[in-house]
Amino acid sequence: MRIIIGENYRDMSRVAADMMASQIILKPESVIGLATGGTPIGFYKELVSLHNQGKFSFKQVKTFNLDEYYGLDKNNLQSYHYYMVENLFKHIDIDLNNINIPDGTAKDIEAECKSYEAKIKNAGGIDMQLLGIGINGHIGFNEPDIKFEAITHLVNLDEETIEANSRFFTSIEEVPRSAISMGIKTIMHAKKIILLASGNEKAKVIERMLNGPITPDLPASILQLHPDVTLIVDKEAGELIRE
Ligand code: GLP
Repeated sequence: MRIIIGENYRDMSRVAADMMASQIILKPESVIGLATGGTPIGFYKELVSLHNQGKFSFKQVKTFNLDEYYGLDKNNLQSYHYYMVENLFKHIDIDLNNINIPDGTAKDIEAECKSYEAKIKNAGGIDMQLLGIGINGHIGFNEPDIKFEAITHLVNLDEETIEANSRFFTSIEEVPRSAISMGIKTIMHAKKIILLASGNEKAKVIERMLNGPITPDLPASILQLHPDVTLIVDKEAGELIRE
């Protein structure tokens, strides 16, 4: 795993945005996997700014988001769909027919998961996948004890995750208890992966992910086996990394 320790959050965000921009410049029809959460907000700002400078276009890019809360409509302010529109899509020249986010309100969830997986395959697979990480080691919404061979599926969220994500809702009761998420197998099929982490509350999980055993107890540990992962952290999240 390639490790880049940025001076601060802005630095971390810039390095990641530069990598994504390079990917799109080199392959304008790239298939990009996107993440949500607090961590990538700076990354999206930097990416939009590079785009606004005329460095590249999203016209031929296809995107697939990692996950969506079960039951939240795309107009719900807490949905990941809404997040993506606000933080990225409304600022760029992407063709809205090319964006893909699981539909959390689908009547037939199993069919929705199957078709999401098929769409990724038909697009030729993900060229570059952006990831964040939960304090319990989840990636996407693949919580501890997940099956490594899982593809896109409905997952129950851990109490820890519900609590951590309640900061984006008015009360903890409003946080959905489940979500549709790409599985570990879907993520591991991406050709390149960028994992972002910021702040000292992520330092421990980053150290365990890098040096601990590969185990479903820490879903991100599987990334040790991926051939092309770049971990980009700020100083705080990287403080326990042994060089
Ligand atoms: C969320 C998302 C993940 C994200 C993680 C960390 O629950 N499903 O994709 O990486 O938790 O979020 P944050 O960046 O806000 O710490």
